[in-house]
Amino acid sequence: MTQKELEQLLGDMTLPEKIGQMTQLMGNFYEDDSSSVLTGPAGDLNISKEQLTYAGSVLSGYGAGELIRMQDAYLKSQPHRIPMLFMRDIIHGMKTIFPIPLAQGASFDPELTEKCAEATAKEAAVSGLHVTFAPMTDLVRDARWGRVMESTGEDPYLNSRMTEAAVRGFQGKDVKEPYRIAACLKHFAGYGAATAGRDYNAVEMGEHTLREYYLPSFQAGIDTGAKLVMTAFHTIDGVPCSVNRHLMKEILRDEMGFEGVLISDFGALGETVTHGYCADGTDAARKSLEAGVDIDMMSSVYPGSLRYLVKEEPEYMEMIDACVMRILQLKNALGLFENPYKDADPEEEKKIILCPSHRELARKASSASFVLLKNDGLLPLSEGKDGKKIAFIGPYVYSRQLNSSWAFTGDSRDCVSLKEAAEEIFPGEQTVYLQGCPMLGAEAAFLSGFGEEAKGALLTVTEEEKRNMLQNAVLAAKQADIVVLALGEHFLQSGEATSRAMIEIPEIQMEMFREIRRVNNRIVVILFNGRPLDLREISREAGAILEVWLPGTEGGHAVVDVLTGRVNPSGRLPMSFPYCVGQVPVFYNELRTGRPKIPGQSERFQSKYLDIPNEPLYPFGFGLSYTEFQISPVELSSQSMTPGGSIEARVTVKNIGHTEGTETLQMYLGDLSASVARPVKELKGFRKVTLSPGESREEEFQISEETLRFVRADGRFVSEPGTFRIWIGNSSQTENCAEFELRMNCRELC
Ligand code: GLC
Repeated sequence: MTQKELEQLLGDMTLPEKIGQMTQLMGNFYEDDSSSVLTGPAGDLNISKEQLTYAGSVLSGYGAGELIRMQDAYLKSQPHRIPMLFMRDIIHGMKTIFPIPLAQGASFDPELTEKCAEATAKEAAVSGLHVTFAPMTDLVRDARWGRVMESTGEDPYLNSRMTEAAVRGFQGKDVKEPYRIAACLKHFAGYGAATAGRDYNAVEMGEHTLREYYLPSFQAGIDTGAKLVMTAFHTIDGVPCSVNRHLMKEILRDEMGFEGVLISDFGALGETVTHGYCADGTDAARKSLEAGVDIDMMSSVYPGSLRYLVKEEPEYMEMIDACVMRILQLKNALGLFENPYKDADPEEEKKIILCPSHRELARKASSASFVLLKNDGLLPLSEGKDGKKIAFIGPYVYSRQLNSSWAFTGDSRDCVSLKEAAEEIFPGEQTVYLQGCPMLGAEAAFLSGFGEEAKGALLTVTEEEKRNMLQNAVLAAKQADIVVLALGEHFLQSGEATSRAMIEIPEIQMEMFREIRRVNNRIVVILFNGRPLDLREISREAGAILEVWLPGTEGGHAVVDVLTGRVNPSGRLPMSFPYCVGQVPVFYNELRTGRPKIPGQSERFQSKYLDIPNEPLYPFGFGLSYTEFQISPVELSSQSMTPGGSIEARVTVKNIGHTEGTETLQMYLGDLSASVARPVKELKGFRKVTLSPGESREEEFQISEETLRFVRADGRFVSEPGTFRIWIGNSSQTENCAEFELRMNCRELC
């Protein structure tokens, strides 16, 4: 439809139709849609039959046949045959599940993420979906917050590149094209900074920090054309995001230029009353309209109060029309007026879902996301050729639950377990596989409210069964040349509403680790988890640690690919692993303070802890390889720059090891003095460099005046003259740096 036709349509619509377009309900309001998963407290919305009839979008199930039927039934009831929009959380895979976003952040490979998003979009589109509530682009610094697993980490630059890649992968150049779905950036904004790491808790943040760290990846997503943005649950400086006009209208739309559809998070409009901010539903409707929220997801505010609001205050009708127009434009951009089913096709669905090329991509993406945290020479394992006995032990040896709590469209039965993958490679006579202990001990009780998905975790194992499991495991470990321990969080221990105050590997697993360590000190730990954990004991006692996150459908194959060296690990940490939970939030791009802790000095009055170091156990950007790289000192093309100019920073990388590998070069900038205190360093570029043994290559990063810009105290995004440092290395702790000056003539200074 043309814009003129859309305007004509809007003019013909009744108020109930318009309010319906602004209402999103769950699929199970229409039929017993068992595949719909409640992602929040639905409560009693007392939705009338008319409201149900007119609701313009569905947080739905999936399946081409089911959604075609829903669309047919819906269109028949629409006076203007406005098609329904099917939206869903397809966060890191539809049926082929890719690594969690935090793992994809660790790959430092936006192109790979784009491919995963493209494959996800294809599977979602043929299943009848039009919109995904992804990418989640919240910056995260607090490992207590369970939703860190949905983010790509603690750095604005990395998050921006990964967000752009995900939006490109989902949407392509035109969402109307086959196999494309609309992307939704979430959660606007600052959700990752919930006080004390407790989900939904208040966020207290100055606007400078919000703009410097939390908004850049949203801007990157908007500039890449994301069609939707989702509001966040929390208050920021006392005002709930969903009704925060300054945030949603003045910043998101007016400053950042977002023109798409703004959808509330699940029930968030109704929760503005619970927050004690809006007086009642009508007040919430008024403030949500003023903030420019177009769609009310699963609350009764818009369906229940909008008509009363416009009756008392008819001037709000104009705002309603503006919201409805944006929704009609989204449906039009997807081509739904011409083809309400878009790519829904049961036959195509069978061919594309979990096809070999998607599984192959998932395997590649998983292994590329793994981070080798420690290796005293135990890895890679020979593939049984040396006759060594290997004992695979732990709850993740047999488990196929390698997806996350945000992959409920996937099926863990499609996953390849570590045991299944290992049996394909390692000779049976040299390997044994044991569970060793349950996944969870006392922690299982915390999952009691998690329904069907937690069933396995809540299975009770008798004390005698536990003793036998452990005894068998210790005996096997005693007889083995090397032990591979597959440990980690239960997949439901990270994700929404899973904040943890103690960020440790479940104690029952650590007890087994200690018993096994007594009889064998050649232990490789494979870590399955959705967040950084306190790894102090493991890092002391294990010979090798491979972080594999929640690796998805092809997780088992990917782990064995890296264990055997078929794939040389190249992942780098997208989020710092704290020394302990007391250090949280901990992040590399911090301010230096007026009394920085000087390494090697024991000055009393410095910014430090008495009982732990300031540094995380494993820093942002860190990761090892099976080979070794040498990075030459940084060379600059000039020691000074003027506005409009640029300088090049060069290093030579050499593979001085014995096997091919990929180094992730990271370029950091430090602004030594400015009109606001600046981070000690900030990532401003990265590049993956694959080299054969002995091979070297010169790599160059360009630094322009734009690279030096930052959000000043007055809110302007500009650079300032002064001295800068450029580091180029293999983690945020690199000391390989050079200095230069940015000089400005007096005109620029005004
Ligand atoms: C949830 C989440 C949000 C998700 C939405 C729909 O509560 O906060 O990320 O997209 O509801 O399921």
